[in-house]
Amino acid sequence: MAALLPSRLTRFRAASRLCFPHLCRHHSSLTHELIHNMDKKETWDRFYTENRSQSFRHFDWFFSYRAVSGFLLPFLSAGGPGDASRLVQVLDLGCGTSDIGLGLFRDSPVPVQVHCADISPVAIAMMQRQVSECRLEPRNSRSELRFLELDCSDLSGFDSHSVDLVLDKGTTDALLRSRDGGERASRMLCEALQVLRRSGSFLQFSDEDPDARIPWLESESGGAGRASVSVQGLGTHRGVCYYSYILTHRGVC
Ligand SMILES: C[S@@+](CC[C@H](N)C(=O)[O-])C[C@H]1O[C@@H](n2cnc3c(N)ncnc32)[C@H](O)[C@@H]1O
Repeated sequence: MAALLPSRLTRFRAASRLCFPHLCRHHSSLTHELIHNMDKKETWDRFYTENRSQSFRHFDWFFSYRAVSGFLLPFLSAGGPGDASRLVQVLDLGCGTSDIGLGLFRDSPVPVQVHCADISPVAIAMMQRQVSECRLEPRNSRSELRFLELDCSDLSGFDSHSVDLVLDKGTTDALLRSRDGGERASRMLCEALQVLRRSGSFLQFSDEDPDARIPWLESESGGAGRASVSVQGLGTHRGVCYYSYILTHRGVC
């Protein structure tokens, strides 16, 4: 089973040292939860609750919006609507308290509707509170930002082929690296392709090597019969390489 491949577990331990250095030092039971059960809502509720502090701070898996804004923003214009009255639709799967969705909302020159979705109500409540307190001003006054408590392996609340840009930073990784998360990762991929517009892009940010992730993406999206997969290296941080896997509907790009 993919989730138990030793390379994936070893990589998670390396990544977790980067992402949760304070937890790894104490080797708490939460670290154990994170290593084995990152597919569980309870694990993440606990993670966000225990890491909550008086003043809000974004937690970003791998890297923050600033590191990838130059890479991301062109996807908004490229997938932009032919119909000028339409908002470009962005969906961040498993947003946690990352600043990616907020950054795109703030900086996009084209009008966007950014949906930040996560299974953890704790993360969603923290984000909603932060946004209501900091009064983020979007560059395009028509842009909108929404937060949704949602299991992203069921995106039936979105119309088919309605989203221009789907983002996944660390969420598929979290599912694949959990004991029982493989099936849910596959379902999330199929659902994301179902809601993705024919001209849209689905970006998965990961530290998993292309020789492991590309065959997985091809086989799981092949079941849905519709995706082309490419990869772009994003650079190396503390010896770990990061990638963006780019999925588009076959025959479109
Ligand atoms: C590794 S964290 C990444 C968070 C964020 N994307 C980032 O870059 O910091 C994985 C996130 O996925 C969320 N998650 C896990 N399973 C999920 C599911 N089935 N549906 C929606 N969110 C999920 C968790 O609550 C957590 O916030």
